[in-house]
Amino acid sequence: MTRKEEIKIKPFWYSDIWLWPKLITIITTLDKNGTVNAGPYSHIMQYDVMTKNPRMLIGFRQDSHTFVNIEQTGEFVVNCPSASHLDDMMETAKFYPEGINELEFTKFTQIPSKKVSPPSLEECPQIAECTVDEIIKLEKSSGIVIGKIEAIVVDKELVDMGREERIKTMDLPIGMGDEARQTYYHTTAETLIKHDLGQPKSAMQGADAKTSMEWDNDATEMLMGVPPPLRKMVIENTEEFAVEKKEKTVTGEVFRELAKSVGMDPDVMERFRSGG
Ligand SMILES: Cc1cc2nc3c(=O)[nH]c(=O)nc-3n(C[C@H](O)[C@H](O)[C@H](O)COP(=O)(O)O)c2cc1C
Repeated sequence: MTRKEEIKIKPFWYSDIWLWPKLITIITTLDKNGTVNAGPYSHIMQYDVMTKNPRMLIGFRQDSHTFVNIEQTGEFVVNCPSASHLDDMMETAKFYPEGINELEFTKFTQIPSKKVSPPSLEECPQIAECTVDEIIKLEKSSGIVIGKIEAIVVDKELVDMGREERIKTMDLPIGMGDEARQTYYHTTAETLIKHDLGQPKSAMQGADAKTSMEWDNDATEMLMGVPPPLRKMVIENTEEFAVEKKEKTVTGEVFRELAKSVGMDPDVMERFRSGG
């Protein structure tokens, strides 16, 4: 006897029986007359992690004021409120008519953004100011916005904090979905469970990374500087690049040129070094 049961897939499947803990954000936009609009959005993910083109992906109901404003103006701000502002966040979720600034019914303070026209929210400890990179309208479904992050803005006190202290200070709520689109559930990170990544029990990380072309000494030396978890990907990309350039050998020059063109700067390497 299996303990499992298959469930019918219905609209809003992702927040129906399936539980999907989510980030809570309030997106601020301007309508075509310059009136501010705000609404909570949780269908949000990082889309491109490289510094060269940092982007986010967000899913909207296509007739939401936020989606319409983003299409018309090309700008929006993603504000992340603390759990202490959940009541105000929920206020902005109500179906106010077009042209109404939901923030006027909340305690949020609007402040000028650094790179875009819609305002940011003072009470939110982390904020991303975005412009539109691409919009995809799924048929009879979501409008997907891929936003380019123009600025990441955080409270000054957070900048030098370690992650644990930052998690506690920011106190970001975690969205736990809703019951019939009426009752919304949230939780906070009261229990922090920590794990150190460590090394695999056997086999060397990155040992599956094999070159199929000839690499000169200069390039090989640089490859050894790449953290092991990234080595396989770097070899594949570099060899592909060398073939495109009709090179028979991967030289230091080819390697440097590719690294520069994909924004593979020393910062990226550093992020993976500790795990390698
Ligand atoms: C916590 C929370 C998260 C939400 N996330 C989304 C979302 O990701 N996409 C979406 O289309 N609607 C989402 N909604 C619903 C919209 O916020 C709601 O329809 C709102 O009225 C839209 O406001 P607007 O028309 O001013 O943009 C969410 C609501 C809540 C309360």
